[in-house]
Amino acid sequence: MTDGRPLSDRGRFSTFPCMSSRQFRAKVLRIRHLTTDVRELTLELVDPPTLAFLPGQSIAVTIPNGGFGPSSLRYYSLASLPSSSHHPVLLLNAGDHGKGAAFLLKHSVGEELHFSGPFGSFHLQHDPERELLFVGTGTGIAPLWSMIASLLEHSCSQPMTLLWGLRSEPDIYYLKELQWWADRHSNFSFILTLSQPGQNWRGKTGRVTHLLQEFPQVDHLAAYVCGNRKMVAEVSDLLRHKGACPIYRERHDEDL
Ligand SMILES: Cc1cc2nc3c(=O)[nH]c(=O)nc-3n(C[C@H](O)[C@H](O)[C@H](O)COP(=O)(O)OP(=O)(O)OC[C@H]3O[C@@H](n4cnc5c(N)ncnc54)[C@H](O)[C@@H]3O)c2cc1C
Ligand SMILES: NC(=O)c1ccc[n+]([C@@H]2O[C@H](COP(=O)([O-])OP(=O)(O)OC[C@H]3O[C@@H](n4cnc5c(N)ncnc54)[C@H](OP(=O)(O)O)[C@@H]3O)[C@@H](O)[C@H]2O)c1
Repeated sequence: MTDGRPLSDRGRFSTFPCMSSRQFRAKVLRIRHLTTDVRELTLELVDPPTLAFLPGQSIAVTIPNGGFGPSSLRYYSLASLPSSSHHPVLLLNAGDHGKGAAFLLKHSVGEELHFSGPFGSFHLQHDPERELLFVGTGTGIAPLWSMIASLLEHSCSQPMTLLWGLRSEPDIYYLKELQWWADRHSNFSFILTLSQPGQNWRGKTGRVTHLLQEFPQVDHLAAYVCGNRKMVAEVSDLLRHKGACPIYRERHDEDL
């Protein structure tokens, strides 16, 4: 990524004519420490008051340069429902320790920030005959969360499975929420796998790529993949090797 924009967006920023990007002013409404590294930021839009977006899309937060040159942009997926258009939610990997993470982390509740959006062609597509497979690592869950929540909100009956890879027990969050969905929607299931679990972990172990062994056939699937850049590339290769299914993925680096 050279100019801060995902590759998929260069040259076609407004995926939908009705959803061209706009500038927004927002306040931080709530900060949740989900793990040592992951923060959930709920924003309250000030002006304009609502954000129309498609599940999976992202926003670009303006990172000012303190008067030293132009500001820069950092993209964050919307981890919330379009129906909560006044209160977008972001999942921030605070462990990145980069410019964007540092800027967002210094915000307290009530402080303002600016962003533009929505952006991105990584959003739910129309594949009504297919089972949906969502594959994510780390905060790559953010856009997948929005997609799954939206499908469930609209009582979508397509079978959907989420494969989510984290490193170890202290990295786990959203487990209760995922279980709540699974308990109430027989068409939704999820598998959480830990690549470096502790001795007492009784769940799945290994990377999400390993979990794909449980899917010998993929021709009936539509796959959405987001997270670690190498994982996205490897999962795409594995799926292509197994058969022909549409693969939708967030491309944010040249070497994907
Ligand atoms: C469409 C899209 C959606 C995204 N959605 C999310 C999301 O929902 N959640 C999320 O957490 N991220 C998301 N990202 C990634 C996010 O935009 C940022 O790229 C990411 O948070 C890192 O930005 P940063 O400014 O914190 O780090 P940067 O400043 O860009 O640095 C990147 C990495 O390099 C390291 N680094 C920087 N400078 C140096 C140096 N001098 N020496 C050594 N190392 C250095 C930093 O520690 C960091 O790990 C998304 C990206 C895209 C394109
Ligand atoms: N829309 C978007 O584009 C978007 C949205 C949200 C987040 N993101 C980005 O997605 C990334 C999420 O990464 P993270 O830092 O939160 O998690 P991470 O630290 O990269 O790792 C999380 C898990 O991914 C595994 N993993 C690493 N490489 C893999 C590979 N090649 N194949 C399969 N699994 C692999 C790790 O296994 P090991 O323990 O074996 O390494 C670990 O279990 C961040 O860079 C974030 O900025 C992008």
